[in-house]
Amino acid sequence: MAELIKGKEVAQKIREEVSSEIEELQKKTGKVPGLAVVIMGEDPASQTYVNNKEKTSKKLGFHSEVHRLPESTTQEELLQLVDRLNNDDNINGLLVQLPLPDHIEDEAVIHAISPEKDVDGFHPVNVGNMMIGEKCYIPCTPHGVIKMIEHVGYDLKGKNAVVIGRSNIVGKPVSLLLLDRHATVTITHSRTQDLPGVCKQADVLVVAAGKPEMVKGDWIKPGAVVIDVGIHRIDDKLKGDVEFESAEKVAGYISPVPGGVGPMTITMLMHNTLQSFKFKHGLE
Ligand code: GUN
Repeated sequence: MAELIKGKEVAQKIREEVSSEIEELQKKTGKVPGLAVVIMGEDPASQTYVNNKEKTSKKLGFHSEVHRLPESTTQEELLQLVDRLNNDDNINGLLVQLPLPDHIEDEAVIHAISPEKDVDGFHPVNVGNMMIGEKCYIPCTPHGVIKMIEHVGYDLKGKNAVVIGRSNIVGKPVSLLLLDRHATVTITHSRTQDLPGVCKQADVLVVAAGKPEMVKGDWIKPGAVVIDVGIHRIDDKLKGDVEFESAEKVAGYISPVPGGVGPMTITMLMHNTLQSFKFKHGLE
């Protein structure tokens, strides 16, 4: 039976560190880091994510702002708000929750966020810097995945890592982070031939496929580390991209859903916002 990688516990430890650092910084500078989140429309999943970001940032001692805009907001109005927050001294981290409504170009919005405040790590400047190993904000979910693997003391050097999914938010950046840690990385996707066979070679399998319970126990190499990035509400239960019941019998380590990657994503957002504040105040 696999050992669980409980993201919730890893996240809690990092959150305590962030919170006590904020307390110290407040004594030193008289200020606390600020996070602004912008959300447009009524997408229920996005509302839940944003509410969690607000709740967590307040709890840890951040200055927290959520700007809730109606679906009918124009791109120009949204860009004006981004510009205002880019120039607001109380704001160190700024993110616009995705997906955005169809009449908004995601790229135009991502490009408008100041790279210094882009705590999601989505701006091309941060993406490019990450690619060449320069200082940048590491995207939150991929960073959380790596922290979870490191938490159990697993050495990635020379290991076969297989990533399912090639999104800009998870698949591509997590592949780069695994490569930086000297894993041999295979990025797979919906057109990959013999996906189960490829997965079976993986010492580390990161699944960000977006399909509920797609990866079965017999796709997994015995003893492998399996990190499940998926989250789906099915019949009022949360499920991942991995069929947990069959996978936990084969894997060496596995992250559960819920309580796995989810809490890590928000935690790394807090970490990045604190980094931004420290950098601005010359404390890095
Ligand atoms: N939508 C789903 N995940 C994310 C994220 O990490 N950041 C933003 N801005 N939107 C998201």
